[in-house]
Amino acid sequence: MREFLPIIVVVAIICVFAALFLTAYVMLRRRKANVTFDRNMPDREIVSRLMKYARPHWRSFLLVLVVMVASIAYDIVSPIIVGDIEELIKDDFELNILFEYVAVYAGILIISMVCTYFQSIILQKTGQKILSSIRQDIFTHIESLSHNQLNQIPVGKLVTRVTNDPNAISMMFTNILVNMVKNVFVVVGVLAAMLIKNYMLSFMVLCFIPFLLLFTVIFRAFTRRVFRTVKDRTTDINTYLSENLSGIKITQSFNREKRKREEFLEKSNELKKAKQNQIFVFGIFRPMVYMLYISSVLCLLYLCGRGYIKNTEFLGQVITSGTLVTFYMYISKFFNPIQTLAEQFNQLQSAFASAEKIFSIFDMEPELVDEPDAVEIQELRGEIEFKDVWFAYNPGEWVLKGVSFHVSPKETVAFVGSTGSGKTTILSLICRNYDIQKGQILIDGIDIKHIKISSLRRHFGQMLQDVFLFSGTIRSNIVLREESFTDEEIWQACKYVNADHFINKLEAGLDEPVRERGNNFSAGQRQLLSFARTILHKPEVMILDEATANIDTETEILIQDSLDRMKNIGTMLIVAHRLSTIQHADNIIVLSHGQILEQGTHQELLHKRGRYYKLYSLQFEKQRSALEKMA
Ligand SMILES: Nc1ncnc2c1ncn2[C@@H]1O[C@H](COP(=O)(O)OP(=O)(O)OP(=O)(O)O)[C@@H](O)[C@H]1O
Ligand SMILES: [Mg+2]
Repeated sequence: MREFLPIIVVVAIICVFAALFLTAYVMLRRRKANVTFDRNMPDREIVSRLMKYARPHWRSFLLVLVVMVASIAYDIVSPIIVGDIEELIKDDFELNILFEYVAVYAGILIISMVCTYFQSIILQKTGQKILSSIRQDIFTHIESLSHNQLNQIPVGKLVTRVTNDPNAISMMFTNILVNMVKNVFVVVGVLAAMLIKNYMLSFMVLCFIPFLLLFTVIFRAFTRRVFRTVKDRTTDINTYLSENLSGIKITQSFNREKRKREEFLEKSNELKKAKQNQIFVFGIFRPMVYMLYISSVLCLLYLCGRGYIKNTEFLGQVITSGTLVTFYMYISKFFNPIQTLAEQFNQLQSAFASAEKIFSIFDMEPELVDEPDAVEIQELRGEIEFKDVWFAYNPGEWVLKGVSFHVSPKETVAFVGSTGSGKTTILSLICRNYDIQKGQILIDGIDIKHIKISSLRRHFGQMLQDVFLFSGTIRSNIVLREESFTDEEIWQACKYVNADHFINKLEAGLDEPVRERGNNFSAGQRQLLSFARTILHKPEVMILDEATANIDTETEILIQDSLDRMKNIGTMLIVAHRLSTIQHADNIIVLSHGQILEQGTHQELLHKRGRYYKLYSLQFEKQRSALEKMA
């Protein structure tokens, strides 16, 4: 019994650690309810959906598998060669034979290295292809979502979905899965080789496996939690950043830097804490596996040494010094992949979590899709009719309540009304950015739902209230759609809206760079560019939402002039707070709280002495008193 005391001590120490970890694990299970998110999609569904991306590359994966088997040969054969060398050099030996052994060792090593190199090259290439196709799909899908759906997801979250999450999935295919397979092969191969070499010692090594399994299960439970927290915190920080970097100028103007810094610090600290926890969990697990490895090496040295000295034989297997060397190497080759397997299993879980997040975006069915029998409109006359239209952004909160009006082809109609009365909403509905809940919208007598969305929008030129310029050049921002326009046509559009004056003054003219959101141009200039973009395509229906709100009076008069010239070319829908700009409209629709109060021409509405009259006199009065003051 005394002889086995060292082994008993080693096993006792391991048992103490196992008990400690088991207690921690039980405590963790009790706190499980606190985990922030859980996956709802079964693993099987995730795997089958992911396979869609891997399937086109099956040849590459097959090749990797073949190359991998060749690279594994080194792990299995090298300890045997080293053991043989040890036995060889123990007694008298011929140098030639040693050279042969070393040459075989070197040969296997080189083959293994070359195979590993090719394996990683093939995998990286395949990984990039998979990554790119997932990214492409998710971006295309996001583009197909309706305004309503897009309003519900913060931009930062979408950025994470398009960047970080596909990365995790690509890593899974190229690194995790393949290495997992490799490690399984190595473990099985090494175990088989050990068993063939010496049963006794192999059983001794296997005695450590239950402990290894226990540690691995506990480790998995901990890491699953920390991985999820890290993911959540990363999305949080991305969402916060994307919003606050866009609004950083406002933060500076309102001296809110300190507050924002504190908020950011808080989020950053939470991510730091989550990452630290992750490092901590790995920091505990790795030494634990190392402890098992060292313990098994100690047991090996003790048992092997003892067996060697006593010349013990077991089932005809003698322990030699070569056996000791071979097993010493095998033990490390056995424990390493098991440890990596445990860690990779968690990365796999993390990749699954990413996949689920991506699929949850894919599962958002685009709300606005063409009906199967939707028609393509080749030519649009520009007749628009609203029939008792009811619309709410959020269920029950009606923004438009029974709106009905008719616009004849080539007519100019203006919408006026107080802020929030529903003007922009009406224009959005005409472009079918949202679907209405009740009523009907007819374009050229056809229900808007029966017209292909792309075909509908092709005939519309929209100038939105929030002008958006993309980074690029003035030309790319005006052209925007793919159609090729000549410089002459672009200049003509610019002249029409009087944007040519300021573009002419720019060094590069139409090729002047536009920075993100057009922040190197004034609000008025941005509006003029957006205006040029709208009329360049000579749309049959022009939608102008506060087109001249940021433009100086002189330019506005010129634009007014252009608009008058454009009248009768197409249907024109205008929203303007400054009533002087819409006096010549064929019809003026006055809105209040999502309902039409009155409509008619400027003169008719003035005669009515209703809401429009009040609004007009108020503006007129303001201007007159300002002039009087100046006089
Ligand atoms: N995306 C949205 N989600 C929820 N509610 C919205 C959304 N957009 C607008 N609303 C609400 O709909 C109402 C009408 O908004 P709309 O933008 O049509 O007003 P408007 O008449 O164009 O105002 P303004 O003159 O200020 O441009 C407002 O009460 C607003 O709060
Ligand atoms: Mg508006």
